[in-house]
Amino acid sequence: MQNPLILTTPDDAHVHLREGAILAGTAAATARQFARAIIMPNLKPPVTTVAAALAYRANILAALPVGTAFEPLMVLYLTEATTADEVQRVADAPQVLGFKLYPAGATTNSDAGVRDLLANCGPALAAMQRLGVPLLVHGEVTDPTVDLFDREAVFIDRVMLPLRAAYPALKVVFEHITTLQAAQYVTNAPAHEPIAASITPQHLLYNRNAIFTGGLRPHYYCLPVLKRETHRVALMQAATSGNPRFFLGTDTAPHAKALKEHACGCAGCYTGLHALELYATAFEQAGALDKLNAFAAHHAADFYGLPRNTGTVTLHKTEWHIPATVDLAGTPVVPLAAGDALSWKMV
Ligand code: NCD
Ligand code: ZN
Repeated sequence: MQNPLILTTPDDAHVHLREGAILAGTAAATARQFARAIIMPNLKPPVTTVAAALAYRANILAALPVGTAFEPLMVLYLTEATTADEVQRVADAPQVLGFKLYPAGATTNSDAGVRDLLANCGPALAAMQRLGVPLLVHGEVTDPTVDLFDREAVFIDRVMLPLRAAYPALKVVFEHITTLQAAQYVTNAPAHEPIAASITPQHLLYNRNAIFTGGLRPHYYCLPVLKRETHRVALMQAATSGNPRFFLGTDTAPHAKALKEHACGCAGCYTGLHALELYATAFEQAGALDKLNAFAAHHAADFYGLPRNTGTVTLHKTEWHIPATVDLAGTPVVPLAAGDALSWKMV
């Protein structure tokens, strides 16, 4: 047993910091655990230009306490109106890493997203491939006739395979994968093909029973939704395999408690407070704590062509309880696994 657990300061490859009053709290929580984070652009209105992303980045930095060392890495929201010129501006802006694909209607604030990627985004995709600009993919079809639990697997056949056949050199990140099919698809892609995947703590720790244990538990509801146990096991294998294609991306996605505990509750789990401890718990369960450092601190940096971080963070083996709620500027938000005990604590 390693105690304390000392890790290279990690990066979070997928976060929702939101905007407005809660930004200070979400940004501070992520900056406490991570040196850098890739900031999702699904604001209202969405962040679709480099100019908007740089303004949002400035707001994030201004919301942090003076002297906080944290680098927000921005991505633009891909739309069917994204031009090759905007892709060029991303390639020229070191603060902006790439584009995020939201299939229209797939998740929170995705209405402005893409209806038909291959038919309607050709010039942008060609420019991204040519300029080495990555595409981060929310990989779910939105066809209402497809069962909700099958939407990621069907996306591989309907979108991912044709996309990667048409643009084989495009750098693709399959975001927050939730299925055996996605883990296998990324694992089995030819070695020279630039593809990777992020994995959240909730998809490592829980299967879909967590949403229904003794009643409906909205704080375990996120998109893509938790899947059955066979998928969780496959994700654990991928995350702890040492394969550099898999890396940490929390998908921390705060919503007000009242909007989660609602007749039509929002999708998203808030893990900004305790992400590293959740991952440490998962990796310890798998007997693979020695694989956590590369998953959390090396693989995303290497894929995105960023220097690896040099500092360290320390986790101690100490039991503590996840708070029932966190106050974000007067808005109560319920963290994932609220009330449960965690046996690792970051100092
Ligand atoms: C995210 C959000 O709330 O912005 N929700 C979620 O369930 N993951 C959007 C997303 O990443 O799909
Ligand atoms: Zn997300």
